[in-house]
Amino acid sequence: MLNIAVVGSGRGSNFQAILTAMQQGNVPGARICLVVSNNSGAGILEIARTNALPAVHLSQTQFPDEQAFAAGMVNLLHEHGADFIVLAGYMKRVPREVVRAFRDRMVNIHPALLPKHGGKGMYGLHVHEAVIAARERLSGATVHYVDEEYDHGRIVLQRSVPVFAEDTPETLAARVLEAEHALYPDAIRQLAALHAAEVVR
Ligand code: GRF
Repeated sequence: MLNIAVVGSGRGSNFQAILTAMQQGNVPGARICLVVSNNSGAGILEIARTNALPAVHLSQTQFPDEQAFAAGMVNLLHEHGADFIVLAGYMKRVPREVVRAFRDRMVNIHPALLPKHGGKGMYGLHVHEAVIAARERLSGATVHYVDEEYDHGRIVLQRSVPVFAEDTPETLAARVLEAEHALYPDAIRQLAALHAAEVVR
């Protein structure tokens, strides 16, 4: 069984999509062991509590420095038996020590077709503004492994959506988000199957 910790900062609609897919039996071999947010009022924590899942508020402000924060995060993840991390709308940089501890075992979702329109500052509506400004005909979502650089790790899976001439960043964001909600559970299903194969080997 792949124990997944979900880390996010906001409303948690991707987490909800993943959870629903799991509850429907569509992600065999994986379960949520922990939900972490840097924001105590985040919807993602609320969703976890509603579903009786461990929900923890963990923020850099609770620690003297970044190193202590990173160690606190790794400890928390280990305490809950996490062997995989799913970032779902986490608005902070993941500390390097956590990236190292979960190398090839942490993924993120980005609301564009990487390697285009990613990197520092490319979050929320900024991404969709950039896609429209570049007159792209296609956008979409990307699930990728997390490394030390923003939106940079190996791509796991992508799903595209059309960009229409009349799109605003908001209408495009809504179309991409719908694609994310199908893509992320799909990607996690594949990753869980891969993990099961690795454990058997
Ligand atoms: C999504 O658009 C995702 O691509 C980005 O942050 C947003 C999170 O939304 N990384 P939600 O909290 O899952 O609703």
